[in-house]
Amino acid sequence: MNPGRDASTDCINQQQSEPDRTGSSTMHSYGGHVNILVTGGCGFIGSNFIHYMLEKYQDVSIINLDKLTYAGNPNNLLSVEKNHGGSRYTFVRGDIADRDLVPRILAEHRPDAVINFAAESHVDRSINDPSPFITTNVLGTQNLLEAARQASIKRFVHISTDEVYGSLGAEGTFVETTPLAPNSPYSASKASSDLLARAYFKTYDFPVVVTRCSNNYGPYQFPEKLIPLLYLKAREDQPIPVYGDGLNVRDWIHVLDHCRGVDLALRRGRPGRVYNFGADGEQTNLDIVRTVLGIMGKSEDLITFVTDRPGHDRRYAMGYDRARQELDWEPRTGFEQGIAETIAWYEANEKWLENVRSGAYLQFMETWYEKRS
Ligand code: NAD
Ligand code: DAU
Repeated sequence: MNPGRDASTDCINQQQSEPDRTGSSTMHSYGGHVNILVTGGCGFIGSNFIHYMLEKYQDVSIINLDKLTYAGNPNNLLSVEKNHGGSRYTFVRGDIADRDLVPRILAEHRPDAVINFAAESHVDRSINDPSPFITTNVLGTQNLLEAARQASIKRFVHISTDEVYGSLGAEGTFVETTPLAPNSPYSASKASSDLLARAYFKTYDFPVVVTRCSNNYGPYQFPEKLIPLLYLKAREDQPIPVYGDGLNVRDWIHVLDHCRGVDLALRRGRPGRVYNFGADGEQTNLDIVRTVLGIMGKSEDLITFVTDRPGHDRRYAMGYDRARQELDWEPRTGFEQGIAETIAWYEANEKWLENVRSGAYLQFMETWYEKRS
């Protein structure tokens, strides 16, 4: 992967000073104005990233390209629209797989960088119907890569996942050289997009950086994913569906630690490189459920074991030495603090939660869980 290249010469507006390590709200500079095309910015991680970047840097502007699928929620960015709409923030509704639209956006807005969060992201939905995962995650990413290459974009960060590595046994962690062994249609589509990113670097010397992160939690997560789903169920004293024996392990990371990693990957990541992000946050699903029930003061009797997810990966754990060494990144939020703040956020944002429970949401949830009980 062209190891002889000097990372610093490729980074956009490399910042000289050490970035904020304390989580304070001090404004930082990219060292010159940077215009970023973010895709999937109305989703969980994308919207957190847009808040994070616009709050942190005064010289960053963002164009958000989002198709607004069931998971895309413009309400996640209401304050961004209010504070920065028409100046540092522009929303475009559209599909990353649209072969006319994407080149047009790049020509019109001339971004310095592209960050691709857009994806179909839910494993269970991919089991139910893999097709949209191929269309968006594979074809959409290729369309974006190609348009960005044609437009000579200086940096492309592709957001990926630990799931591309498959499943771990009882010991060890995934590292960036772990062979890809995806087990679900979702992870297979993400692995495909990672390989396309790699091919664009190898073949065209296009400056792509791939990041792979473990399970995120935090504000604005769509309540089909374990933590917000269990909050929603527990709030209404409904049974909490735990797949299989509940002993599958995930490495939970606070979404803002992930966002900070993506920012650093954009600034300091070496083209052609993959960077893992994790949080030493290994926990079984049962432990997660018990912790959240404890915070909410709810009974563990709500826990209901249901039919396992087909192809359910047993354990994920991320080794992130490369990110530590090359990006000066490490996670900052401890799980205990992060999960308490997250539950407090959902409690304070009941209206947001009610709004995302649309008809389409209920339809999938009912059919999926009906088959498992
Ligand atoms: P999400 O489902 O919450 O959001 C996805 C967003 O992409 C939505 O706003 C949706 O409208 C948009 N989108 C979907 N298809 C699109 C298309 N064809 N064109 C334009 N926009 C489209 O997902 P998320 O959890 O925020 O994940 C974001 C990215 O991070 C994904 O690439 C995912 O694979 C990756 N990731 C997620 C996690 C996690 O724990 N959630 C962990 C590691 C990596
Ligand atoms: O690891 C990163 C991945 O994390 C991301 O790439 C995906 O986009 C994201 O959705 C997430 O995938 P998971 O499948 O790990 O997340 P989910 O919240 O769906 O499930 C977490 C664990 O909880 C998993 O072991 C399955 C289990 N689970 C999930 C649901 C929805 C249950 O036991 N019951 C449930 O109802």
